[in-house]
Amino acid sequence: MRVTRRLSMKLGLAAAAVRALPARAATPETLEPRPRRVRLLPSDYPETEVWSYGEGVPGPEIRVAQGARVRRKLVNGLPQPTAIHWHGIRIDNAMDGVPGLTQAAVAPGDSFDYDFLVPDAGTYWYHSHDRAFEQVARGLHGPLIVEEAEGPDTDGEEVLVLDDWRLEQSGAIVGDFGSPRDLSHGGRIGNVVTTNGRTDLARPVRRGERLRLRLINAANARIFKLAVRGMDAWVVALDGMPLPAPRPVSEPMLMAPAQRIDLIVDITAEEGGEAFLLHLDGSDGFAQVAFPVTGRAASARRSVPAPLSPNDMGKGPEMSAATPLTLTMEGGAMGRMDGAVMDGRRMGVRDLAGARAYWAFNGVARMTDTPLATLSRGETVRLTLRNETAWPHGIHLHGVHFRELGADGAPGDMRDTTLLAAGEARDVVFVADNPGDWLLHCHMLGYAASGMQTWMRVA
Ligand code: C2O
Ligand code: CU
Repeated sequence: MRVTRRLSMKLGLAAAAVRALPARAATPETLEPRPRRVRLLPSDYPETEVWSYGEGVPGPEIRVAQGARVRRKLVNGLPQPTAIHWHGIRIDNAMDGVPGLTQAAVAPGDSFDYDFLVPDAGTYWYHSHDRAFEQVARGLHGPLIVEEAEGPDTDGEEVLVLDDWRLEQSGAIVGDFGSPRDLSHGGRIGNVVTTNGRTDLARPVRRGERLRLRLINAANARIFKLAVRGMDAWVVALDGMPLPAPRPVSEPMLMAPAQRIDLIVDITAEEGGEAFLLHLDGSDGFAQVAFPVTGRAASARRSVPAPLSPNDMGKGPEMSAATPLTLTMEGGAMGRMDGAVMDGRRMGVRDLAGARAYWAFNGVARMTDTPLATLSRGETVRLTLRNETAWPHGIHLHGVHFRELGADGAPGDMRDTTLLAAGEARDVVFVADNPGDWLLHCHMLGYAASGMQTWMRVA
């Protein structure tokens, strides 16, 4: 495999010079989403009008200590209503930011005060949850980092927000949000891939340096397939939650929309060379992030990193008493769905398509007034996810983290978003210990808007 400098796919951009990372801006106490012009493409292309929470895209990094309180005033400077969801936080339900379920959408010119505690350390993010298939694609997202009381022993850290954009040659965002073809096929996949809003992100390193990399997939529909070169890497956390033991990266890593991976990496590339976070796209790899090696930190290889300090997840699941629930995904192009219930009425696929509903959960398209399940607080749930479609789905549950189970029922990773390939099934288990109304949806945002959305009540 060849590492190329082909940093975007269809525009055929010239390789740009390696530049240093900009300094981190101070976190504002107000988040004002509005249209802004930013430079996404190299300087020989025009700028792009995005919707952003701060000066650039992604939005300003919010970084707090574990257990801290986060307060942000959302001031809506957009031409549409909006709301902010704090993805992966085991949050007070009233602050979850889901219009129609946990709050009213914030009208243009209006504001809303978010105020919540962050119980768990880890890598999280925030994003719009109103017309998310458009608003997130226009740039409305940012990192939310919750620091451990005692962090890992590293020489540095980078937050890397991976995204893709559908841009015209003029630099403008293509305005075909929610196109029937995207909704029913692979979702809105962009033609320009960025990290932290840049096509050419380069982070100078020293040989032997140990870094923590916090990866966030903020794309609407793209599943990133990533590998490393010129570094030894271990996965230390997934969706914010520490692994009990660091896991060496030996195979490509798949990242569904909304998923996060925390890596600890040791730079092994030679001085004057480069290490890479590689984006595997077809048979080619290209530099998602380049790490030019400018000097030497440690000559000897270090030992395997220690695990991150675990979050306190309370009492674990009671598997023997688990309530079984099933979520069957149906629909989409090349699917077998012959109809579904929408707005209380059985409809055939043609009528559903006429209403831009292409997907269903358990035979129901879009949200309903009644929840998928009403759970009592503390109840253990074993949720069987069945993907009976021809497309992959990243299924996200708000308000709790769940544990993926292996085919043999063995406990796997804690996550808030789980990726199911076409035809795949997986059980996840969680304790419904956070009261409120929680959304359960596909994080391919166009799919969520066109059917794959339901909710659970924890009473
Ligand atoms: Cu990332 Cu319903 O959210
Ligand atoms: Cu999906």
